[in-house]
Amino acid sequence: MLTVNNVSMTFTDRTLYTDVNLKFTPGNCYGIIGANGAGKSTFLKILEGKLAPTTGSVTLDPHERMSSLQQDHFAFDDQTVMNTVMQGHKRLFEVMELKTRCTPSRTSRKKTA
Ligand SMILES: Nc1ncnc2c1ncn2[C@@H]1O[C@H](COP(=O)(O)OP(=O)(O)OP(=O)(O)O)[C@@H](O)[C@H]1O
Ligand SMILES: [Mg+2]
Repeated sequence: MLTVNNVSMTFTDRTLYTDVNLKFTPGNCYGIIGANGAGKSTFLKILEGKLAPTTGSVTLDPHERMSSLQQDHFAFDDQTVMNTVMQGHKRLFEVMELKTRCTPSRTSRKKTA
């Protein structure tokens, strides 16, 4: 579970939100909607830990991990959906690719019995 505790974000001349409290619970799919400039991207950066909020904190339960993709409509045009999602966690994707390269395909496996 991802928990947002009393998060506020203020840039020098503008407060985007004050004391946001939220729980993102397993099994659900969430979307963030808002007008241009409302603070959606900033909020996602705070969730990822790429940007420190003015107040409050974001916590991820133990043994859970955060994966994310940059907002780039064309970055994954030549990728499968699975590969695109997996690339949200670069290390995991590298390990998966390595495993695929190291695992002999069915046709090249020798029969031993
Ligand atoms: N590093 C920063 N310093 C100052 N102001 C910032 C900074 N980052 C974002 N802002 C301002 O915070 C506001 C929210 O920006 P943000 O990019 O989060 O909005 P958004 O909801 O994602 O917008 P869009 O729909 O256009 O993608 C904007 O007014 C933006 O100019
Ligand atoms: Mg945005």
